[in-house]
Amino acid sequence: MDRTQVVLSAGAIRRQEEFTRRIAALHRQRAHPPLAMVDTYGCQQNVADSQRIMGMLRDMGCGFTQEPGQADVIVINTCAIRENAEKKVFGVVGQLVHVKEKNPEAVICLCGCMAQQEIVAEKIRRSYRHVDLVFGPQALWKFPELLYGVYTEKRRVFSTGDEYGTIAEGLPVVRESGVKAWVSIMYGCNNFCSYCIVPYVRGRERSREAADILAEVRQLAEAGYREITLLGQNVNSYGKDLDRPMDFADLLREIDKIPGEYLIRFMTSHPKDAGEKLFETMAACSHTARQLHLPVQSGSSRVLKAMNRGYTREQYLEKVRLARQAMPDIVLTSDIIIGFPGETEAEAMETVSLIEEVRYDALFTFIYSPRPGTPAAKLPDPASRAEKQRWFDKLLDSQNRISAQLHQSYVGKTLRVLADGESGDGLWPLSGRTHGGRLVHLKGGRELVGRYADVKITGSNTWALFGEAL
Ligand code: 5AD
Ligand code: SF4
Repeated sequence: MDRTQVVLSAGAIRRQEEFTRRIAALHRQRAHPPLAMVDTYGCQQNVADSQRIMGMLRDMGCGFTQEPGQADVIVINTCAIRENAEKKVFGVVGQLVHVKEKNPEAVICLCGCMAQQEIVAEKIRRSYRHVDLVFGPQALWKFPELLYGVYTEKRRVFSTGDEYGTIAEGLPVVRESGVKAWVSIMYGCNNFCSYCIVPYVRGRERSREAADILAEVRQLAEAGYREITLLGQNVNSYGKDLDRPMDFADLLREIDKIPGEYLIRFMTSHPKDAGEKLFETMAACSHTARQLHLPVQSGSSRVLKAMNRGYTREQYLEKVRLARQAMPDIVLTSDIIIGFPGETEAEAMETVSLIEEVRYDALFTFIYSPRPGTPAAKLPDPASRAEKQRWFDKLLDSQNRISAQLHQSYVGKTLRVLADGESGDGLWPLSGRTHGGRLVHLKGGRELVGRYADVKITGSNTWALFGEAL
């Protein structure tokens, strides 16, 4: 695949804008402007994708609602990473049959990673006949054309074919707040970790041109956004496919030259591709947050090999050492999978010992969930669910103790904290984030939202800090 086939032409995007205009014209013929509901499951990439879908819906003349009963267009943006996420979505979609009974004109759309799987599309086709439009992440850019098809041809539309994946620049967007923004820098994944469905549903790795990313970040910084999170399934692979190769560290350096009072965060980093150059660049860039999400998945080299992760326990620990050498105050977080097929209790305890050794600030922990079509789903999996739960609980106990201890060490310190929103809680009316991304429940007036404040940390628990703006 060469770049000219990957990056969609301006003409292809303009064609979609034409469909948007035609839909807006149809909407104007209605007695009331239509309302849309976008319901999002899963990761930040899905949140970012939903903001693009909302941008398109807004340009079609839609207002927004959270109430399915009031909505004329319902979009469910789904996640396929674990079975639980899928079950939840099937439950939600099942309920929508009542919405369709009351309002047969309502259009129900299912998109995201679940929608890209043929088995899911087939199930929707047969058993969820009230769903009108199904499209995977690769087809998101042509949502206007697909929706126009549903409107004008009065038929169900499925756009879920296996596609290599493209890059669409210039899609409209509705961002959630004036404080935080997501910027995708690349799409897809080439790693094929043996448990993971993502490479099958989000296509091959493809990087946006640096110039496009820089323009978006500059625009956000000028608009006053304070926290910009760069997104990619594996940001450390950034640039490998560009005609003029540059890597993720080079990109961070270029972004850092953009003036403004903002912080750059990013996720997710794959340990096999993260190294000294990245850590030193992070340390040298004044806009880059002292935060690194470096998913280890397992502390057992045998399991890591079976997961196809491309590093050993020792190599991972060495990366952590290098990161801390470059940035002693780095906030480290990780993802862990317990109960990978064939994992023994001793191997699970190697993971517990790794987290005791690293002492992460926080963890995202999961019990392995078989994903049809992935190599791991075919492996024998003798450990019982109850056994895995026991290992998982041990892991959580350890991590909760470590997080509580690390948070306790902040108490009494004064930190620069970005107040990023209102919490609705009377006692701690604001929420904020430290430079390293830890959550702070804040006392202070709403005028602080969107600003950095010096905050005295007065308390802590396992999950967060508590503080008062000085
Ligand atoms: N089962 C459990 N957890 C999974 N993850 C990915 N695939 C699976 C699976 N099949 C976890 C990994 C990944 C995070 C986003 O989700 O830890 O880093
Ligand atoms: Fe899945 Fe591995 Fe790609 Fe992450 S790097 S999306 S875990 S295949």
